[in-house]
Amino acid sequence: MIKAVTGTKDILPEDITRWKYLEQRVEKIMQSFGFREIRTPVFEETALFARGIGEATDIVSKEMYTFNDKGGTSLTLKPEMTASVVRAYIEHSLGAKQPLNKLYYISPMFRQERPQAGRLRQFHQFGAESLGGTSPSLDAEMIIIAYDILSSFDLKNLTVKINSLGVPESRNNYKNILKEFLQDKVNGLTEESRKRFQTNILRIFDSKEEPDQLIMKDAPLLIDKLDQESKDHFEQVRALLDIAGIPYEIDAKLVRGLDYYTKTTFEIVSGSVGSQNALCGGGRYDLLIEQLGGKPAPGVGFAAGIERILLACENENTLMVPQEKPDIYIIRIDKELNREVFDVALNLRRKGLAVEFDYLDRSVKAQMREANKVNAGYVIFIGGDEYRNNEFVFKNMLKGTQEIFKLNEINEIHHKLKEEANASEKT
Ligand code: HAM
Repeated sequence: MIKAVTGTKDILPEDITRWKYLEQRVEKIMQSFGFREIRTPVFEETALFARGIGEATDIVSKEMYTFNDKGGTSLTLKPEMTASVVRAYIEHSLGAKQPLNKLYYISPMFRQERPQAGRLRQFHQFGAESLGGTSPSLDAEMIIIAYDILSSFDLKNLTVKINSLGVPESRNNYKNILKEFLQDKVNGLTEESRKRFQTNILRIFDSKEEPDQLIMKDAPLLIDKLDQESKDHFEQVRALLDIAGIPYEIDAKLVRGLDYYTKTTFEIVSGSVGSQNALCGGGRYDLLIEQLGGKPAPGVGFAAGIERILLACENENTLMVPQEKPDIYIIRIDKELNREVFDVALNLRRKGLAVEFDYLDRSVKAQMREANKVNAGYVIFIGGDEYRNNEFVFKNMLKGTQEIFKLNEINEIHHKLKEEANASEKT
């Protein structure tokens, strides 16, 4: 039997209501902060990610789904959206159309990582990018949007971590200081960190291995060596987070796994999901647009993992979204009334109601069981004595009450539903 590829997941109808609810919440909050949606292709030229995210990062060096198309062009399934959004921004001269572009997205991403709880090979992110502004308000708003969305799902176990990686000059100076500190300790590091010592020294802070952590706990910190501009920017972001009432902690070891960051970086982690605990991450990238060939412009953004958020919700028993249910289930009492039932259902559906009936020739009892199972709001019975009297029975499943109407009123029954909905809203 052919199964879904390792690290990919089907989203079944019973899961969809939560996904849609989450997506609608994201859209609403993004729009209230003035963001507009952008959609980019699922694959891009490999060079975009190699240059944008950085050759030495795990994403580019180990995790990308890369293939040659028939013309021999190297393509890659997008592992993240920032590079793609920046590519689109440059390609369509969005910066010339308006000085500040605030864009959001919801999209699948692809990374060939070792699958585990909360870590997939095809996963979904929602995220936002502000292109064109240096204001600390934009950094703060990214953190606030992410936090507001997560808290709107009643997630409790959240920690907001923020840090500043400074500008390249102060970061390069700091890298030399770190190199000096580690010079005589390299042999004590794990193999992976010894590699990072050569290629991407800051990422040694990310290691969860004990020998690395033991050495890194005394390492000098970038945040203590920041340039004045980055320091001021960071102070302002913090002040705005205070105004917004966002609880945060400064994590001087938060380096993030992508190379494009300058100044602010942040993550929101959850205590409810195990080791893959970052629900979202982001930061400022003031040089990326220029690096990818655009007119120099600053940017800041974040992305959140939808599967991880849903896992946190599941573990915290939140986001209990009711399943979708039909307005009406039509029960066919007499077998020969198939066409009548078909016709009534069609008419009511065309009026916008969600209507179901039996296609499997089931008994009246089984149809009733089904109506209960799918949680139909109302049941219409077609057949029996009532039908012979040109009438039908209409049952309110919630109240358990029923009324009899003339058959010629059946296609207008949606008015009745509306009346009852209005009445129950008033009480
Ligand atoms: P990232 O930290 O690589 O950042 O990913 C953001 C979020 O995507 C993570 O916090 C996590 O929730 C989710 N995620 C990442 N990898 C996986 C995976 N294999 N399985 C499930 N979920 C995953 C970025 O992607 C940046 N583009 C964020 C950004 C936007 N920075 C600036 N703008």
